[in-house]
Amino acid sequence: MFSFVGKDLFIENVKVLDIEKKYKTATYIYSKNKIIQNYKAYHTPLAESRRSGLICFAVKTNPNVSLLKILAKLKSGTDTVSGGEIYRSLEAGILPEKIVYAGVGKTAEEIEFALKKNIFMFNVESFQELEAIDKIAKKLKKVAHIAFRINPDVDPDTHSHIVTGKKGTKFGIPYDEALHAYAFAKKHKNVLPIGIHSHIGSQILDVSAYKLAAVKIKKITDELAKNGIQIEYINCGGGLGIAYKKDQKVPTPADLMKEIFEVFDADKKFIFEPGRSIIGDAGCLLTKVIYEKSSGEKNFLIVDAAMNDLIRPSLYDAYHEIIPIKDVKEEMFKTDVVGPVCESGDFLAKDRVLPRLKQGDFLIVTCTGAYGAAMASEYNLRPHLAQVLIDKDKMTLIRKRGQYKDLR
Ligand code: LLP
Repeated sequence: MFSFVGKDLFIENVKVLDIEKKYKTATYIYSKNKIIQNYKAYHTPLAESRRSGLICFAVKTNPNVSLLKILAKLKSGTDTVSGGEIYRSLEAGILPEKIVYAGVGKTAEEIEFALKKNIFMFNVESFQELEAIDKIAKKLKKVAHIAFRINPDVDPDTHSHIVTGKKGTKFGIPYDEALHAYAFAKKHKNVLPIGIHSHIGSQILDVSAYKLAAVKIKKITDELAKNGIQIEYINCGGGLGIAYKKDQKVPTPADLMKEIFEVFDADKKFIFEPGRSIIGDAGCLLTKVIYEKSSGEKNFLIVDAAMNDLIRPSLYDAYHEIIPIKDVKEEMFKTDVVGPVCESGDFLAKDRVLPRLKQGDFLIVTCTGAYGAAMASEYNLRPHLAQVLIDKDKMTLIRKRGQYKDLR
């Protein structure tokens, strides 16, 4: 997505400095063609495998409607976790029959909304939720397609905040209650179990964890088949990691599919719910150095993006590569890159070795397409950032910068 032409950093065919000239900083920037490339990295191996399946982009990673429209054109589905995400998916042109809906706390209003919109499938996370869906579906004279989200109790070796498939997390139905759950569903006339779902975590860099989960899920589907319950759809969740560090080796969607397809029979249909691996490295954050200062042994670059714009470093100690937009041979120095928010926890990078940037210089925080703008807030009454989409040599404003008069 990035390339230096001479001394200038480009995104696709646009000079980053020109984006700054037109839209100022701080600004989230996305590359349309990188999104398409990342989507195809799922679509192509799936098509070549001759397995039947559906790719459902996880809207929580980035709900910008212009970005969802790109995916809708590619015939993607969506993985949603709220009524709002279902609404946004439909607004973007995603077909209802390609929308799956997970989440541990679906409200009656959300369930009714989803049923009225005829979404494809509910990923059900508790016995009470199943009863609620059945009751509302009955009232609406509908039959809801469901999958139980099963917690397979595997450890994907990622940050504790984003592990979901281990015993003791709030997600899904415990592995040893899975058969009971499907038997329970059979007693309800307005739900039809057609799938099984497991999502074990996020930023997963070792696909063997998926295989462990798949083997456990296969055991359940085999047992269910013996009891006369045929599961058509295997939903493998999302979670594939991306390279936050330069030259980091990461598994591809094809690697992931290989592990999973080995486990299941050819007649099964598959759902994948990638988020980060579609949009993560297709987005970045452009920011400007407002001030430089030192305190004791430490250097600080104070920039115009902060934890309210990108919370991942503060919340998960996440590492995002930082690159200056000019390739100049400056001496290197060690610095923290921090924002203007009034908390010591407000940082984008700590003890980072960078070229000696100065007041007024611009830098890019890479791989912020996923869980960047999506998790932003107006903390400290800082308006939402502008968002710009690059398509070859074209720039389009896809979200206007927030204004003081709109602050809540
Ligand atoms: N499906 C389900 C049911 C999920 O809960 C998630 C993410 C996904 C799919 C998409 O996972 P992905 O492919 O993006 O890893 N805010 C955190 C990540 C939270 C992940 C929540 N669930 C972060 O910034 O790292």
